[in-house]
Amino acid sequence: MNGPRRRRALGAAALAGVAWWALRRAREADLAGQLVLITGGSRGLGLLLAREFAGLGCRLAICARDAVELERARAELAAAGAEVLAVPCDVSDAAQVEAMVREVERRCGGVDVLVNNAGIIQVGPLQTMDVDDFRRAMAVNFFGAVHATLAALPGMRARGAGRIVNVCSIGGKVAIPHLLPYDAAKFALTGFSQGLRAELAGTGITVTTIIPGLMRTGSPVNAFFKGQAEKEFAWFSLGSATPLSAMHAGRAARRIVQAARRGEAEVTLTWQAKALRIAHDLFPGAMSDVLGGVARLLPGPGAGGGTERVRGMELATPVSPSPVTGLMNRAARRNNEFGGVPQPSPEHARRVGLDPPDDTEPMSGG
Ligand SMILES: NC(=O)c1ccc[n+]([C@@H]2O[C@H](COP(=O)([O-])OP(=O)(O)OC[C@H]3O[C@@H](n4cnc5c(N)ncnc54)[C@H](OP(=O)(O)O)[C@@H]3O)[C@@H](O)[C@H]2O)c1
Repeated sequence: MNGPRRRRALGAAALAGVAWWALRRAREADLAGQLVLITGGSRGLGLLLAREFAGLGCRLAICARDAVELERARAELAAAGAEVLAVPCDVSDAAQVEAMVREVERRCGGVDVLVNNAGIIQVGPLQTMDVDDFRRAMAVNFFGAVHATLAALPGMRARGAGRIVNVCSIGGKVAIPHLLPYDAAKFALTGFSQGLRAELAGTGITVTTIIPGLMRTGSPVNAFFKGQAEKEFAWFSLGSATPLSAMHAGRAARRIVQAARRGEAEVTLTWQAKALRIAHDLFPGAMSDVLGGVARLLPGPGAGGGTERVRGMELATPVSPSPVTGLMNRAARRNNEFGGVPQPSPEHARRVGLDPPDDTEPMSGG
């Protein structure tokens, strides 16, 4: 191609790029004034999403079980100028969710955007998991989203408009070893979310499935560990801490809100999660061998069966909390991960620079 032709081709490509970008921008709905209900909005990703939606001028309703932590989140959002209602609620209980959604509708009007974000995670080898671990994971990570969706849908259908965002996980696309109850529940949620979008096509209600890889929300301190709990906490929090393995959670929240505004079908967050999905889809046999190898590298159940569930913030290992996991610890402080009860162990609190465990003063951003 000669010089002028190449320049014309480059110009046309640049124009097409700008037009594509402008078209995508134009497809982003203006959500100002709309009511966004976020389950698990008290800390971590849910709180970051609340801050993000508030920045767009949305009104907010947030729910979670821990009323102390929820109130801290509400106070922070309100102090920043957001109009926010906080309703304590356990999403695994259908009746509580129904009552919570009715209260939100009564006090704030119809739910325009529902974000099914509430989730729990248990980490450990299968030998340490019992049927209750699977039930707990399904109850929150799967049925929690089903309950909230069924409660909010009638209002959305009546208005012929709405957005539902389901925060799934890469663990709901590729089963990660030592997370079996979580994987199973997130696979179920992914299927529900995809099917829901298909069934609601043409109703004015969009459903967006979010498949995040690791994000630096700080949530390992609130995850539960079984087996050799210290070792499980160490590898899991290391993976959740470094920029090489985990995405900045604020950036993840911005991308999720953008996907909701565009009504996108599915978004996978982090290049690592994308690579894992592609590799698994193309080479399922080879990938299962790789994951089998990973499982063999992870800690065994340990002496005594290791069936005790220990929360991350009760643990302190040489790796975590430490400067190596400093980014995660700062994110945990910023995102209200230490906000309620129970409080961290004195050693954990000392290492992440928190006040003594019985202190309930609001924490400053780290
Ligand atoms: N962080 C990551 O790397 C990552 C990766 C992939 C997917 N995800 C998903 O992203 C979502 C948010 O994760 P995160 O890292 O922000 O976790 P997080 O900091 O532990 O936040 C979880 C939120 O869910 C709430 N929650 C838990 N169980 C609940 C229940 N039964 N009823 C109502 N609320 C409940 C928690 O509050 P209470 O405990 O007070 O109820 C909290 O507000 C989860 O669905 C998670 O699976 C996270």
